[in-house]
Amino acid sequence: MGIFNLFKKTKKDILQTPVNFEVLHTDIHSHLIPGIDDGARTMEDSIALIKEMSKLGYKKLITTPHIMNDYYKNTPEIILSGLDKVRNEIAKQNIDIQIEAAAEYMLDDGFEKKMKDGKLLTFGDNYILFEMSYLTEYPRLSEVIFNLQMEDYKVVLAHPERYTYWHHNFEKYKELTDRGVYLQLNINSLTGWYSHGSKVIAEKLINRNMISLLGSDLHNDKYLEELQKSRFEPSLQKAIDNCTILNDSL
Ligand SMILES: [Fe+2]
Repeated sequence: MGIFNLFKKTKKDILQTPVNFEVLHTDIHSHLIPGIDDGARTMEDSIALIKEMSKLGYKKLITTPHIMNDYYKNTPEIILSGLDKVRNEIAKQNIDIQIEAAAEYMLDDGFEKKMKDGKLLTFGDNYILFEMSYLTEYPRLSEVIFNLQMEDYKVVLAHPERYTYWHHNFEKYKELTDRGVYLQLNINSLTGWYSHGSKVIAEKLINRNMISLLGSDLHNDKYLEELQKSRFEPSLQKAIDNCTILNDSL
């Protein structure tokens, strides 16, 4: 092998046949309602992304706009009315894909208030998707999970591999799965797109069968391009083969 090939992927490192996302049936994490968060900006963007997801094999998209206290003050009403518009456009253009909406809730003070008010957007059989700050663990994480489970929510943590403050504390992940929290991996983490550390943790979570859901976290065409590449990752195939992945039940 010449020096220039040293950093190239060898045949062994990539799948010869890319994963067809038809095996997952459903994507459960994306930002496809135009103009309400940092995802699709216009209906044209949104429809272009949806068409590409259909080409990749997905049959259903559960899109999950951000709901945050500070940046994206979305409500179930805003999200569902956006969903209606996207659905109308999908029907008009005869695109063969189903779309539903839930939300990606940021764990912040506002979240606990929303919980008390009792109107949280969920998907499937009462699954709720939440994320945390990338800077620091939410101090009341444990209580919030407990309270949600007491209310019969199935708690899903978005992209656990992206919280760098846990990268050297793998026990945290075990604690969560032991408590019945579902871990949703971002498929694009598998190429190392977010960071090398996220890729390492993602693979470790897959190797220990700790992943329950796979998500694209699609925001724009950059994410889409990476998703197309990620289909060649052997670790994606491994997640599908070895983990108990719930996407196709949704
Ligand atoms: Fe997201």
